[in-house]
Amino acid sequence: MHQNWLLTRRRVLWLGLATLTGTGAIARETTDRNQQNQGLDNPERDFKVVGKASLKERAAAKGLIYGAAANYPALSSDPKLAARFVQECAMIVPENELKWPSIRPGPDTFDFTKADWLANFAHTHGMLFRGHNLVWNQALPPWFKDTVNSKNAREVMLKHIKTVVGHYAGKIHSWDVVNEAIWPEYNQPHGLRYSPWLDLLGPDYIDIAFHAAAQADPKALLVYNGDFLEHDRPEDEKRRVATLKLLEGMKSRGTPVQALGMEAHLLGEQKLNPKKLKAFLHDVADLGLKIMITEMDVKDDKLPLNINVRDRTVAGAYEDFLSVVLDQPAVIAVLTWGLSDLNTWYKVWGARADGSPVRPLPLDAQLKRKLGWNALAYAFDHAPKR
Ligand code: G3I
Repeated sequence: MHQNWLLTRRRVLWLGLATLTGTGAIARETTDRNQQNQGLDNPERDFKVVGKASLKERAAAKGLIYGAAANYPALSSDPKLAARFVQECAMIVPENELKWPSIRPGPDTFDFTKADWLANFAHTHGMLFRGHNLVWNQALPPWFKDTVNSKNAREVMLKHIKTVVGHYAGKIHSWDVVNEAIWPEYNQPHGLRYSPWLDLLGPDYIDIAFHAAAQADPKALLVYNGDFLEHDRPEDEKRRVATLKLLEGMKSRGTPVQALGMEAHLLGEQKLNPKKLKAFLHDVADLGLKIMITEMDVKDDKLPLNINVRDRTVAGAYEDFLSVVLDQPAVIAVLTWGLSDLNTWYKVWGARADGSPVRPLPLDAQLKRKLGWNALAYAFDHAPKR
């Protein structure tokens, strides 16, 4: 489907301009759809979309789900933000409220208050609800270190999964059962990331978690959620290879993994490699797995201060990524990590040195649609129908 690389004179000029202005992320391999938009070859790419339909409507027209991460403090205190979630999103995922520190105040206590509030918000407004996450090396509560050891780790994990997954059984679309387990840079066997779970239970911890989740809710889609799978450094290729091996191994052992979550925290200043990305998606789909884009946003701290340039680059990164990803029929959903620049983890973790507010999401801090929104809308409008 994709055309081969075509280095036109116009493209050469544009690549030069992109390098000079720091908008190199837009300089990516051309696809048929980009060309319909006079896309990558055209510095005037305007991301024009027809009509006012929301992202969830445009996605649904192609058999896709669009949603976003929401957090309790923001959503429960800001009715305007809540209204924008209802308007744009067909699915929400709690940004933090299902993680251990929030839901597991003590070894024997569970607190579903905030997560339930978000689940009820989703169901009241006809949105799907998804779960993030059950087993991760990060976000473990303070009591974990002193309480959990190699003797009781399996029991602690099983109790957590049984209770939390059981609580939402039948009412949840999907679960990130294991999160970010691969990090070849650590030189552990199988490219596994260092984690207390790996330390306490060995590499089997992943299979144990998936079996427990399937038992607690046979209907939820069970996802392995991976980070840095879309980037194009040598270590990212190793990560893709190790992730494929992990998924292949799970499938061959009958471990109930049903989808890959690809986080897609894109970096505004970095190029993607469409060929590698496409090949990886194809290999994942070949295993019979669905694919969800689970945490998409575009970090803009290294981009120029000028807001127009920044918004164009962010929008370009969204569209370039989605134009490859949405061509893969196994992709069923796209979620951004937040909806508005008002609430983004990059306010803390990706702040700009010049102090200018970050702009990584589809809506600006005033909740208005910006060029990034157009890029998502454009990508959904031009995606093949599922
Ligand atoms: O809730 C406490 C609050 O009580 C306390 O006063 C405050 C003091 O620091 O901390 C608050 O918790 C913070 C929490 O966000 C809620 O704001 C944690 O310190 C902070 O570490 C936590 O950061 C979250 C991070 O995951 C770690 O859990 C980010 O909001 C969240 O966006 C981020 O999301 C992750 C995904 O889960 C996995 N993939 C990468 C993604 C981005 O890092």
